[in-house]
Amino acid sequence: MSVDRNPTQYLKEEYERLLSEKLTWEPRELQSSSGADCRMDGKQVIMLAANNYLGLSTHPRVVNAMIRATEEYGAGAGSDRSIAGDMGVHEQLDSRLARFKRAPASLTYPTGYAVNEGLIPQLATRGDLFVSDELNHGSIIDGIRLSHADRAVYRHKDADDLARVMKEAEQHDPRYRQIWIITDGVFSMDGDLAPLPDIANIAREHGAGVYVDDAHGEGVLGEQGRGIVSHFGLSHKQIHAEMGTFSKAFGVVGGHVTGSEFLRKFALNKSRSWLLSGAIPPGVAAACIAAIDVLDSEPQWLAKLWENRNHFINAAQQLGFDTGNSETPIVPIMCKESGIARELADFVWEKGIYVLPIVFPMVARGKARIRVQLSAKHTKDQLDQAIAAFKEGGEKLHLI
Ligand SMILES: Cc1ncc(COP(=O)(O)O)c(C=O)c1O
Repeated sequence: MSVDRNPTQYLKEEYERLLSEKLTWEPRELQSSSGADCRMDGKQVIMLAANNYLGLSTHPRVVNAMIRATEEYGAGAGSDRSIAGDMGVHEQLDSRLARFKRAPASLTYPTGYAVNEGLIPQLATRGDLFVSDELNHGSIIDGIRLSHADRAVYRHKDADDLARVMKEAEQHDPRYRQIWIITDGVFSMDGDLAPLPDIANIAREHGAGVYVDDAHGEGVLGEQGRGIVSHFGLSHKQIHAEMGTFSKAFGVVGGHVTGSEFLRKFALNKSRSWLLSGAIPPGVAAACIAAIDVLDSEPQWLAKLWENRNHFINAAQQLGFDTGNSETPIVPIMCKESGIARELADFVWEKGIYVLPIVFPMVARGKARIRVQLSAKHTKDQLDQAIAAFKEGGEKLHLI
């Protein structure tokens, strides 16, 4: 018997649908290192879309650490950490990061995505509840979807609404066994901050756990870039799980979760993305350790990042651009319509500036924007060149 079914037909049809709705993703090719000045698709451009906030991906201490460890231990760890790939350098990274974060323990994972997707579903199960900011990152949403717990959403950054949701949750019958409040620390599309002290207070009143995604806060906020928990002067007794990534300000790749010793032991034994996925290569782990060392000993990069961020946002606001609620080196240039955001990105590309248009469905309809990400490596001249291009494009498209 043969059933008339074509397994690849759906792929073709779905791709064609995306294409017709202009929703396909076609990354440009980066033909140089990820610096302030890059080669992309055969063109020299100023990079304003990278997460390499401090320029550490090319820092000599970071690069040399990667080379040395690779020469000594090889290109790969040969296994998952859980089986036969847990090298000394991974353990060193865990403890170096915990020390940097001033927390009892950390556990590093293959990526930040793997932390959210692998750990969150284990934190709560049937009879429990996740309470999530409506604008949380997709990896958090995926993690929550993978769990058997109930879920509730509160309005973006709205502590009063969170308090309301928590109050309603207390009426649930049977009583929830445990509740986790989950939030981005820095929201990746808007560059604004979660009201973490308020969240910690509300959580304490209800005996709930707090899980914060610090992907865009590490290396950017807090004392020497220790991140959002440090920024708000909180401790890991109030913020029970702080996840992050080495793929952004640290300039390398890999994820982590930081908190108590028991969090580390729990995460190590329960996260399928840790147990069932290859260890980051030893060179990567060594580079991450070197990046933490740089953050601790070279404060000039953090200072320069903020100087550049302030220069850019002040100039953009003076021109009349709506920069949303940015509080960090992620600066949105609000365009409302997806078509306008795309046109502005294309316009500045022609002037040698690379930025990412963030359009529906990445953000809600009517909230399209250009996401500008500043780095410590930009020169004032490069930023002024970008501002001049935005001014011309903004006037042409009647944004200013
Ligand atoms: C807020 C947030 N969380 C998690 C991640 C995932 O991090 P990684 O790149 O290490 O997988 C990202 C990356 O885009 C992010 O922006």
